[in-house]
Amino acid sequence: MQVAPSILSADFGILAQEVKAICDGGCDLVHVDVMDGHFVPNLTIGPVVVSAVAKAATKPLDIHLMVENNSFFVDLFAPLKPKYISFHIEEEKHPHRLIQKIRSLGISPAITLNPHTPPEAIEFLIEDLDMVLLMSVNPGFGGQKFIPNVIERAKRLKEIIKKRNPNCLIEVDGGVNDKNIQALKDAGVDIVVAGSYVYGNDNYAYAIKSLQI
Ligand code: DX5
Ligand code: ZN
Repeated sequence: MQVAPSILSADFGILAQEVKAICDGGCDLVHVDVMDGHFVPNLTIGPVVVSAVAKAATKPLDIHLMVENNSFFVDLFAPLKPKYISFHIEEEKHPHRLIQKIRSLGISPAITLNPHTPPEAIEFLIEDLDMVLLMSVNPGFGGQKFIPNVIERAKRLKEIIKKRNPNCLIEVDGGVNDKNIQALKDAGVDIVVAGSYVYGNDNYAYAIKSLQI
């Protein structure tokens, strides 16, 4: 299991230090939550701050867009060369076109599904994706309670992936901790995002390791 700590739960007063600490602590990716105050009722960070994160990070960036006008934000963040950019299917009229655009910029395309969106909604996009991000909370805030239906959604998604693109990874985001990690692993999840669980622990390396099962 790969682990992508979400910097949303970091201390923003010492952000570069907090990013270095999770990288030194052995994380696999650095998860960056971009919120625009429209698609979700919260506002986070733009390319100026994320470029400081990219400079401090020794692991690849995993940018999770929670915005309206995805294409505009892809253009803003592409110069930072993240490994992944994911966008919400609920907010995109032309997902296939956007996937091609992200790939043409040398970035791995990923789609995010809210807790109510069935995996079948993206069945015919799977072959063009490198990753699917399943939300296990409603997007907008860190520190929320895990919604257990993600286990069934991950299992159904895994079946579609096996049939259509076995290289596509499954990531889960929201309320992940040492209590639900085994069930996620058993459901076929490859990467977990963890914000409050990692940054709420005195020892980041220990928290990260406890999820790398
Ligand atoms: C929620 C974000 C998550 C969040 C996870 O909208 O996408 O990445 O920071 O935080 P925890 O792990 O605390 O639920
Ligand atoms: Zn996220």
